[in-house]
Amino acid sequence: MNFPRTRMRRLRRTEALRGMVREHRLHRQDLVLPLFVVEGTGVRQAVSSMPGVFRFSVDQVVTECKEVADAGIPAVILFGVPEVKDARGSGADARDGITQRAVAAIKAQVPDLVVMTDVCLCEYTDHGHCGLVEGEQVANDPSVARLASTALSHARAGADVVAPSDMMDGRVAAMRTLLDDSGFDEVPILSYAAKFASAYYGPFREAAESTPAFGDRRAYQMDPPNRREALREMRLDLDEGADALMVKPALPYLDVLTDARRAFDVPLAAYHVSGEYAMIHAAAERGWIDGDRAMDEAMVAIKRAGADFILTYAAKAVAARLD
Ligand code: PBG
Ligand code: ZN
Repeated sequence: MNFPRTRMRRLRRTEALRGMVREHRLHRQDLVLPLFVVEGTGVRQAVSSMPGVFRFSVDQVVTECKEVADAGIPAVILFGVPEVKDARGSGADARDGITQRAVAAIKAQVPDLVVMTDVCLCEYTDHGHCGLVEGEQVANDPSVARLASTALSHARAGADVVAPSDMMDGRVAAMRTLLDDSGFDEVPILSYAAKFASAYYGPFREAAESTPAFGDRRAYQMDPPNRREALREMRLDLDEGADALMVKPALPYLDVLTDARRAFDVPLAAYHVSGEYAMIHAAAERGWIDGDRAMDEAMVAIKRAGADFILTYAAKAVAARLD
């Protein structure tokens, strides 16, 4: 059965043959575009570390969302960047906060687009941590209450999916209870369940102005070497009522994604984060790699590892290359 009778190259000979035996494919429906929303009108401000990524005011993000929907991309995830920040992140659950206004405007004008919201406090706190700070620590339980209130305010504004990214313990259960008790039992929770304390979030923090003023996020986000613990995090979030789970970042954690695919039947998301996106663009700008091919390869690798959908800044570019 071995060579020369077996020749693996026979089915690689033409593109038509390769297409027939291809095991994984990316579809437009697999893509979610992250969008940053800032105050003002007519704002479309480039993020220097992420070529092709902008910070939009509410009016401009609506225009962008129309293009996204026309490109066949089913969903966006919003990150609000408020002008005013304080210790408790008051803007996060404000009825007329930046995210709430953006959600309402998008749902009014592009109703079929799935609008997800990132639920966290770091964009809204003056210290830049994902929860409330007591001394030098991020206090878990008081943070959970603020996060649940934030998720509810996003749902009230019309969010289709809420996605907590803070990594506090117990936040999914608190959100589920509050949403259900407030008449939002149909709003799903996509939990950033296995979110690692990663170096790859650098460019995002420029875009979202969410760099911690002191310390780092290692006391709440996961330690990068921990694979078993990621399964435990995901199992806990499922038990608390998460509808779908996310692994983040994507490419450095494909093993975690594959573990999750084997262990759970729920939809799995992967976040191809800002640093992963920026590295490909930086190398391509230098002429060191073919950026389009590297991006497409990243996407299909994430699907191969087990993701159902991918949050990526390259959603529009990748979709434009799909047939
Ligand atoms: C906020 C949040 C972060 C990202 C998504 N939500 C940054 C962080 O945790 O520091 C990272 C996204 C990216 O890098 O593209 N909790
Ligand atoms: Zn955060």
